[in-house]
Amino acid sequence: MATLTFHGHSTFSLRTDEGLDVVIDPFFSDNPGFDGSLEDVAADFILLTHGHHDHVADAIPLAERTGATIIASYEIASYMEKRGLSTSPQHIGGGVEYPFGYVKMTPALHGGMVELPDAEAFTTVPAGFLIQLKGGKSVYHAGDTALLTDMQLLKGRVGVAILPIGDRYTMGPDDAVRAVDFIEPDIVVPCHYDTWPPIAQDGDAFASAVGTRARVELMAPGTSLEL
Ligand code: NI
Ligand code: MN
Repeated sequence: MATLTFHGHSTFSLRTDEGLDVVIDPFFSDNPGFDGSLEDVAADFILLTHGHHDHVADAIPLAERTGATIIASYEIASYMEKRGLSTSPQHIGGGVEYPFGYVKMTPALHGGMVELPDAEAFTTVPAGFLIQLKGGKSVYHAGDTALLTDMQLLKGRVGVAILPIGDRYTMGPDDAVRAVDFIEPDIVVPCHYDTWPPIAQDGDAFASAVGTRARVELMAPGTSLEL
């Protein structure tokens, strides 16, 4: 049984049936929701949806310490490779089979600036990830994105949908409900809200708005969900 842990904001980790640790968007040190130590975070694979600070801030130190493979867009992976890190480049629409399952990069409509040392001058296409675990469960992390009609293509393929609801920079709650209509997941985990005042939202109101469309899990930072 895989375990999904929320670390606050948009940072999640999966412990898979194979005992592998998959970290999505490692933002720990500056994350108001994370009260542990980056030194204690385990990682075999690190998935990066895009280059914004609140998604990649701790990617390099985490990869350097753990030797984890960074799964990211070709541009970000190339940058990481030049820093001597292990990478697996992908791009939108493409998937790769890993020891824990199949990971496909999905479209996201958002900004692409890369906020890493000496990288501010280039941009890349932001993404989400559809993770089809070998154990049979599937997790979709939408990344930072607007509502996309493309999400309809995910219908019937997603067990757990991790969706931003913060508004301002990403979908707000109303569009996230429409995303649930498109995707029809079993479980919805809202994220990218309440981290800071500009993206404050009412999680309970979102859960009510989703209603019977799906089970909504309002994960508090530091809590886990058995999949
Ligand atoms: Ni962003
Ligand atoms: Mn963000």
